[in-house]
Parts: sequence; structure tokens; C-alpha cells
Amino acid sequence: MSNTEEKNLPHGEPEIDELTNDRYLGGHEYDGIRELDNKLPQWWLYLFYVTIIFSLVYLVGYHLADWWPLQEKEYTNEMTAMADIKKAMPQIEVDLENMVPLTAETDLAAGQEIFNKICVTCHGKFGEGLVGPNMTDMYWIHGDSTNNRVSMKELYNVVITGVITKGMISYKDQLSPIQIQQVLSFILTFQGTNPANQKAPQGRKYDTFG
Ligand code: HEC
Repeated sequence: MSNTEEKNLPHGEPEIDELTNDRYLGGHEYDGIRELDNKLPQWWLYLFYVTIIFSLVYLVGYHLADWWPLQEKEYTNEMTAMADIKKAMPQIEVDLENMVPLTAETDLAAGQEIFNKICVTCHGKFGEGLVGPNMTDMYWIHGDSTNNRVSMKELYNVVITGVITKGMISYKDQLSPIQIQQVLSFILTFQGTNPANQKAPQGRKYDTFG
């Protein structure tokens, strides 16, 4: 066993730990515990160099030369691009005042598909009503009571705006105007079907539709 005295070299040459062959660091001694000047592993060093190079590229690329946009810029870029796309799209004019239920089989089939995918959970497979109201009777919550009629316009607005307090969200972004017209037209085919387990009437009775 070596002791400390053997390691204290007289002429100030670096002291070497005989077990690891590493140099002792001067001035780093605490309670007899001394620190060795260990060599960092190569892989660690290279990783460190890579981070330095990365930080330089990052600094120049994002902050000095503007090679890539910062997050905020990226956001405004995308919003501008989206606005351009929207502008380029033909505006679909929705004539709510004169909207009538569609009767073509393809429209009703498309409406049924939308209904079964989205609306069925609340309005029931046969329109009998669950969370949402019964669609098979003449009672409607969103009718035009002034003119004593229910129209596509009122129902369309329910789908567009939703009734958040009652649990129905707005489908403005999920469905196009024509899709809303299709699904509403399909819903109206439930009228008078009298399915089992109907929900009690809600709203008021309307005699006219349209
Ligand atoms: C999460 C449940 C839920 C879903 C999903 C849902 N609704 Fe509703 N819907 C409701 C509720 C609740 C009401 C009643 C709102 C009120 O009390 O004003 C309602 C009301 C309506 C009304 C008006 C009924 C009336 O009596 O005036 C229409 C039309 C309607 N929904 C269509 C749809 C369509 C079309 C879909 C699918 C695209 C849909 N709903 C999906 C819950 C839902």
C-alpha cells in the first residue's frame, strides 16, 4: 500500500495517482479527499462540441440571418397563408331566407351519413331524442313563434351557433352549408314516424313548416 508521503513529490512535478494514472488537481483537497484531473470521455467531448456548433447555427439562423422564422413569425405566416386560401375560395352564398329541405335521394343519403356519424349520439338513431330533443314530432324549441312556423333558417342557425348551455356545440367548422342543409333535410324525414322510446315533446307545437 502506498501512503500520502510517497505521493508528495519534492520538485512540484504533478502527482500521479498510481491506480488510474491520472494527475491530481492542486488545491482541491477537502478532508483528505483529493480530486483527480480525469480526462473527459471522447464521446462526451464531441457531444459538447456539437452543442456548441448547434447553438451557433441556431443563433445565426434564427436570430441574426433569419434563415428560419421564429415561432411567432411562423404563426403569422400561416395565418396569412390561410387568409389567402380563404380569399381564393369561392364564397358560398347561403340564402337562408329561401332555404328549403332537399329531397333528392343522394342528398338525404348524405344527410343520413352525417346524422349517423355526428348527431345520433344526442338525437337518437330514429330521431326519437336522447340528450337532444325528439325530431319526430311537431314540437320544436327553435321555431319562429312570431310567424308560427319552423323553417330551415331557424334549424340551420341552431347547427351553426350550437346551444352550448344545453350541450350542443356549433358545427360551423365541421360541416359545410350544403352538408348542414343535407343533414337537416334528413332530420325532417323523421317527422311523424312515431318511433319507440320517444322523448316527450319539447318546445311548442308548430303546424307549418317552411
Ligand atoms: C352533444 C349532444 C348533441 C349533438 C351531438 C347534436 N345535438 Fe342537436 N341538440 C342538442 C340539444 C341538447 C338540443 C336542444 C337545444 C335547446 O334546448 O335549445 C339540440 C337541438 C337541435 C335542433 C333544434 C331542435 C328544436 O327542437 O328546435 C336541431 C335542428 C339540431 N339539434 C340538429 C343537430 C344536428 C344536425 C346535429 C349533428 C350535426 C346535432 N344536432 C348534434 C344536442 C346535440
